[in-house]
Amino acid sequence: MFNVILFGPPGSGKGTQSEKLIAKYGLKHLSTGDLLRSEIANQTPLGLEAKKIMDKGQLVPDEVVIGMISSALDANPNVPGFLFDGFPRTSSQAEALDKLLDLKKTSINIMLALDVSEEEIVNRLLKRGETSGRSDDNNEGIIRARITEYHAKTAVVADYYRKFNKVSMVRGEGSVDEIFNSLCKEIDKKNKEY
Ligand code: AP5
Ligand code: MG
Repeated sequence: MFNVILFGPPGSGKGTQSEKLIAKYGLKHLSTGDLLRSEIANQTPLGLEAKKIMDKGQLVPDEVVIGMISSALDANPNVPGFLFDGFPRTSSQAEALDKLLDLKKTSINIMLALDVSEEEIVNRLLKRGETSGRSDDNNEGIIRARITEYHAKTAVVADYYRKFNKVSMVRGEGSVDEIFNSLCKEIDKKNKEY
């Protein structure tokens, strides 16, 4: 298997680039944000609890997202690899993911980290908020809270993978296709080593 983490702050383009990467490499896309929004849409108890936290721009508890990822891994036994988007977002999630992949005799091959400035992120998300219907996008205070949460709890996750030499930083500003080409280059380099 070939397993990728697409990493970066809110609005850095993880979802946009994931769509293109899964089409090219045949990976299974696992986005905890999308999984949570589907729970919200179905008005499940988990979704209703998660919505309250997401609407404040905070992270939902580790157990919740780790449980979701564990089920998703079990539900997809025969894929060529996974593309994790928006997960892991804390050190505990990173450790839990390693253990889950270990049980499946596989591991993370590469973390692609998108580098985008804070002003660009806020502009992108405010713009999307005009049409997305995402309640965490239409208010600059909530967007800033998401960025603060990212710096407080998520940025360290890159350090975790850096210890294993798995992180490739990619400039996340410019056209979608330019960024996609840079991401593919990093994957193809890693694929050759592997
Ligand atoms: P999640 O859904 O993961 O949201 P996020 O990380 O805050 O980021 P986004 O999905 O908004 O942005 P993105 O990086 O995917 O960028 P996108 O491609 O959409 O999480 C939402 C919430 O769920 C969290 O706050 C938390 O509460 C909870 N949650 C999720 N996972 C969790 C976890 N593991 N643990 C705990 N809690 C969790 O692009 C953004 C915009 O920019 C779009 O409009 C796009 O069209 C535009 N754009 C993309 N690329 C470009 C470009 N190159 N130039 C110009 N515009 C661009
Ligand atoms: Mg996303």
